[in-house]
Amino acid sequence: MTADTIAINQKMDQFDGHHSVWLFGYGSLIYKADFPYLQRRPASIANWTRRFWQGSHDHRGTPDAPGRVVTLIEAPGAICHGMAYLITPEVFAHLDHREKDGYLRLATPISFEDEEANNASESVLGLVYIATPDNLAFIGEASERDIAEHIARSAGPSGPNSDYLNHLAHALRELGRDDPHVFEIERHLVELASRMART
Ligand code: SIN
Repeated sequence: MTADTIAINQKMDQFDGHHSVWLFGYGSLIYKADFPYLQRRPASIANWTRRFWQGSHDHRGTPDAPGRVVTLIEAPGAICHGMAYLITPEVFAHLDHREKDGYLRLATPISFEDEEANNASESVLGLVYIATPDNLAFIGEASERDIAEHIARSAGPSGPNSDYLNHLAHALRELGRDDPHVFEIERHLVELASRMART
């Protein structure tokens, strides 16, 4: 079952009249910027944690066999590191289509983390795409080991689910950020691959 969020996102008018808006990416939006942007800066948002708990029927899985991709789960005190992009409003048509399997635009404070940020408190109000637990594509919690097994057997129009995990892990390392959930799944995937190679 899919959960097409395009129509709901198109009604989001909070930034109407703005010439540009900051978008925070924490999953594929970190490593795959297939849209025009004015600036790109390492950033974070507070009180959310990244989890492979969202189903993907259109990118890394199929309607019958959804893959697993990341969403954000509320976690007071947590910091989620990612990438912020300054975009013009026209770009939302592309993003709403790309993120249509359950993700809704949510306004959030975004803190910049690069050298240009004069101090840790430099932040702006921007947007993030979040797939909340009540969306139809949500799969939910599982152990990192079970998530790795799920990812290992999934693929969709955008390619193998494992590519999504590997690109994200690589991008987080490039940002110099730890994410125990992501790196633990990556470790299990490597183990599964070497076990498969031996059989
Ligand atoms: C994001 O990257 O910010 C949203 C989830 C995804 O598209 O992978």
